[in-house]
Amino acid sequence: MKEPHAPVLMNEVLEVFRDKKIRSFFDGTLGAGGHAEAILTAHPEIEIYIGCDRDPDALALAKERLKEWKEKLLLVHGNHSDLRKWMQEAKTECIDGYLVDAGVSSMQLDRPEKGFSFQGEGPLDMRMNPEGKLTAAEIVNRWKEEDLVNILREYGEEPRARAVARAILAARRNKKLETTRDLVEAIRPVARGKKHLHFATLTFQAIRIAVNDELGELQRGIEEGIESLCSGGRISVISFHRLEDRIPKNCFRDEEIKKRKPLGRLTILTKKPLGPSDDEVRKNPRSRSAKLRAAEKS
Ligand SMILES: C[S@@+](CC[C@H](N)C(=O)[O-])C[C@H]1O[C@@H](n2cnc3c(N)ncnc32)[C@H](O)[C@@H]1O
Repeated sequence: MKEPHAPVLMNEVLEVFRDKKIRSFFDGTLGAGGHAEAILTAHPEIEIYIGCDRDPDALALAKERLKEWKEKLLLVHGNHSDLRKWMQEAKTECIDGYLVDAGVSSMQLDRPEKGFSFQGEGPLDMRMNPEGKLTAAEIVNRWKEEDLVNILREYGEEPRARAVARAILAARRNKKLETTRDLVEAIRPVARGKKHLHFATLTFQAIRIAVNDELGELQRGIEEGIESLCSGGRISVISFHRLEDRIPKNCFRDEEIKKRKPLGRLTILTKKPLGPSDDEVRKNPRSRSAKLRAAEKS
């Protein structure tokens, strides 16, 4: 395996929790454990650190990396939106710190057998969790034209969604699409993508988001996170594209508005989302589109 995933916006994440006494922390997207290692180092007072990921390979990697803290660590395999279940397992009533670093990791993108990448050839899979039921192959070979158009528009913002959907339908009439290369070749004549992007980027993004219900998960995860924070607890969310970023933006704003009413409970800490420094972008180009939003519960 290549270098593990390089964590993004590390200083900015640490800044959110600086000066806070944290007993319980929920890391909803543990990945290779890069953020976890830095947070556990900066906060020796942490008593329980719940590290959640739906990719068992990521959990195995993080377990090794974080072995120094194994007494405080609860590693859980599944969705971060099941936060309440994980809190019960950890026997904690509320959490002081919450982090979600959305999307796929570079380990996932770099492994052709996961099917996330249009660069190498792999099966049309794209499941972050190998136990998930829906695969990319199911979507491209069985979904109706209208459903394909909807995800290409909504999750990919592909300008030629209809043409791409029709090209997929035409290709599968001849032969079932089995590999990422089959999909790339099927859409090559029509997919456009966006300036500076490979023509297949937006199609792959759309299918990946659908396979993993990424936006639904993020929405539910943040709602559960806000609900489960202790008073004074902080939530931080890193997103990588507009569709993701509007979820914490709207959830935080809605909660802040409620604050003016008797039930209110959230203060936004980042009026504008924080992005990477030029130096970080130079070292890790993947950080280019990262945005961090954070809020504190009253
Ligand atoms: C960008 S990486 C996180 C990297 C991590 N912060 C680090 O420092 O290495 C995203 C990870 O979140 C996981 N993931 C994405 N959505 C998830 C969800 N809804 N529930 C649990 N894990 C999820 C992916 O499997 C992937 O390993």
